[in-house]
Amino acid sequence: MDTRPFRSVLYIPGSKERALEKATGLDTDAIIFDLEDAVAIDEKPHARKLLAEKLATLDYGRRAKLVRVNALSTPWGADDLDVIATAKPEAILLPKVDSAAHIDALARLLDTRSETANTRIWAMIESPLGVLNALEIAQAPRMGGFIMGTNDLAKDMGCRFRADRLPLLSALQLPLMAAKAAGIVAVDGVYNAFKDDDGLRAECQQGRDMGFDGKTLIHPAQLDIANQIFAPTDEEVTLARRQIAAFDEATAKGEGVAVVDGKIVENLHIVTAQQTLAKADAIASLTE
Ligand code: COA
Ligand code: MG
Repeated sequence: MDTRPFRSVLYIPGSKERALEKATGLDTDAIIFDLEDAVAIDEKPHARKLLAEKLATLDYGRRAKLVRVNALSTPWGADDLDVIATAKPEAILLPKVDSAAHIDALARLLDTRSETANTRIWAMIESPLGVLNALEIAQAPRMGGFIMGTNDLAKDMGCRFRADRLPLLSALQLPLMAAKAAGIVAVDGVYNAFKDDDGLRAECQQGRDMGFDGKTLIHPAQLDIANQIFAPTDEEVTLARRQIAAFDEATAKGEGVAVVDGKIVENLHIVTAQQTLAKADAIASLTE
């Protein structure tokens, strides 16, 4: 499991030079450099060349770097891989993954080059079939994480956009469970109305409460909200410390259960408390 924070995962169209440069200084945990749907067909050759050059020359520091290529079944997927391989990508994000066979096919291509020997694979889960096959996809070789493609999912399901996302809940939870079972990262879909801070905050809170590691974002103005909401709060950190201290005290007395604020604390709650502290530490140790 990747232990880096993935609170904020920012899409940048591979064709936008200014945005590619700006991102070296943005407070984002991860970047998705996009060659797929954010890049027009005529722009694709230019975008993949520009992106390979920027990845090779700019310093994105601590940020996790995912390159979203076009699907291998399209006329652009193989060329995307050819050009991007020269920049030794940390991870390839494959769109429209329906089954583990899609991951296997990409893994075989990555195996053939020394530059991509260590490249991880992330999958967009954005089709009904992808949702239903999420476990085999999560368990496929080289897998690092899932990105939920909620716009494509809503399109394929014919469901409506609602603030509570009720029509999408199963489609979010099934891949989330598969990701947890396989020990990979899971990142929630985008919030399209990028000037609506209140709506973004509510959707981040919902994704966090469900168990997602973070949210995909489309504009730098969305970063602060995602970074804040997907980080443990001060109250959660304080409670985690108190639970650990109370449990240590209880075990020293030969008891298996402690009580904090009128609630029982057992071994399993200590695991959660330790994860909360580890996440807070990982965030606190980020340098830029
Ligand atoms: N990543 C990095 N920088 C970005 C950015 C992004 N996703 N979106 C905008 N910026 C930068 C702009 O370059 C601009 O920088 P500057 O002021 O230093 O020149 C600044 O942020 C403000 O941008 P703004 O003018 O508010 O945005 P815009 O109107 O040019 O673009 C969008 C709005 C939504 C078209 C643009 O944010 C975008 O392309 N987002 C990504 C879309 C995407 O990747 N979709 C695919 C997945 S759903
Ligand atoms: Mg999509």
